[in-house]
Amino acid sequence: MERNVPQHIAIIMDGNGRWAKRRNLPRNEGHRRGAETLRKVIRHAQKRGIAYITVYAFSTENWSRPKEEVDGLMNLLRTYLKQNLRFAKKESLKFKIIGDIQGLDADLQAQIKKLEEDSSQNVGMQVNIAMNYGGRDEVIRAIRKMSENLLKGGLHIQEISEEVFESYLDTAQIPEPDLMIRTSGELRTSNFMPWQLAYSEFYFAECLWPDFDEKQFDLAIEAYMDRRRRFGKSE
Ligand code: FPP
Repeated sequence: MERNVPQHIAIIMDGNGRWAKRRNLPRNEGHRRGAETLRKVIRHAQKRGIAYITVYAFSTENWSRPKEEVDGLMNLLRTYLKQNLRFAKKESLKFKIIGDIQGLDADLQAQIKKLEEDSSQNVGMQVNIAMNYGGRDEVIRAIRKMSENLLKGGLHIQEISEEVFESYLDTAQIPEPDLMIRTSGELRTSNFMPWQLAYSEFYFAECLWPDFDEKQFDLAIEAYMDRRRRFGKSE
């Protein structure tokens, strides 16, 4: 029986829009509340001894939302990254952004670099934020990087293995998630870490992301700890 807390938890923070709609608020107010929930969850996860948390903040598909919502989300990310400079220091958190960073505005890219560098020596939990992230896009970008190396002669076809391929993904150096949590009752993974979630346990919470809290988080961890993980082997 699996007894340890998960080392790495991936979270799809879904339901901000519905949360806002139910209260007759603009969708971006839902996202703002969602960002607050995230900070609360990060603090709690660190207390529980989780080593890595990876959250889906903005997908490559999210660009097709109305301009007002996209602009709102980008501004929220700007504020969030800035506030995290202090948050990282106070809680000794390491921050890393995964996704196609080059597709983001130049000022955001600079902020990302600063937050990553500033927090790189911290010894607490590592928080990975997926921005302009798509799982298939990540695989294609990895194939491009690997192919460049092949063409240069730095890698031979026979050497390609799962481990070698993984070293070209955005998540190189990060162990794969043990547990994936999605809120809002949707039973999909929506292009979030398709390679990395191959053997992860999934937990679906009914509540909308802004309503997710410490108690819900503990329920997910308890459910995970009750499961038997076999990695394809028989018992
Ligand atoms: C899904 O809810 C959520 C998103 C597309 C964005 C997630 C962003 C946050 C939680 C806040 C910002 C994050 C950071 C790191 C600052 P939805 O809009 O798809 O909700 P719906 O399915 O109810 O419409």
